[in-house]
Amino acid sequence: MSYENILTATENGIQTITINRPDKLNALNKQTIDELNQAFAAAETDSQVRVIIVTGSGQKAFVAGADIAEFANFSVEQGTALSADGQAKLFDFVQNLSKPVIGAVNGFALGGGLELALSCHIRVASNNAKMGLPEVSLGVIPGYGGTQRLAQLVGRGKALEMIMTADMITAEDALNWGLINYCTTPETLMTKCIELATKIITRSPSAIASAIRCVNANYKDGVNGFEVEIAEFGKNFGTADFKEGTTAFLEKRKPNFTGK
Ligand code: COA
Repeated sequence: MSYENILTATENGIQTITINRPDKLNALNKQTIDELNQAFAAAETDSQVRVIIVTGSGQKAFVAGADIAEFANFSVEQGTALSADGQAKLFDFVQNLSKPVIGAVNGFALGGGLELALSCHIRVASNNAKMGLPEVSLGVIPGYGGTQRLAQLVGRGKALEMIMTADMITAEDALNWGLINYCTTPETLMTKCIELATKIITRSPSAIASAIRCVNANYKDGVNGFEVEIAEFGKNFGTADFKEGTTAFLEKRKPNFTGK
């Protein structure tokens, strides 16, 4: 598939999706969100892809937010649709993907950029990255899940501080606050992401998909995560991966998972 605003490359089971609008600091316009939706959907069904890394092109930005130029003249209805469509196509979509997604935050992650990182299952940032939700300085709120996912990671107090001040924080602060999993140098950012991905690839894809569903269940209204866990745990016993994992352990060899 060919895209205008993103690049994709797959190597050793890892697909890297690079948002590629460096002259606009990789801002998310409608087309980029549509392309990301297509790329993530394709990666999910591609048996060659086991883990996805999403990053931004250039040295400066992961993603500097939703494209302000595109929504500056929107009406109430268009604003509502912008948020709903974005959540469905990208932010909720990524969070609920059955394959692990690692955000490689290589620079500014602002507004929708930070919200994209928050949707990823794991975040690694380089020490030049700056993260923030500056929306209230534009007269709006974060509309791609930021008010929910940021508070889930850093707690209500820190989330509201970031949202109300609109300030950017450093990668070091983000690490201390639990917003990111690791902080690296710019040179070692992708190495760290690949190291994590490579380890994940040795584990059972079907169990990982199950684990993602269970962890996400905790954040869904009206859903009891413990009940989801019981059901998913039971289903694991019917998978080829479970048979292979337990057999390999008893035979003292490495498992060869198929994800089935
Ligand atoms: N939407 C649209 N365009 C954006 C953008 C965004 N969110 N963020 C950056 N750009 C564009 C700029 O308009 C500029 O385009 P131009 O060269 O055609 O004028 C280009 O990217 C470079 O940005 P610039 O502001 O010149 O870089 P800088 O180094 O001076 O500042 C930032 C970097 C990130 C601090 C600044 O770009 C910024 O504040 N961006 C908006 C962040 C934001 O509010 N995001 C939330 C949106 S809801």
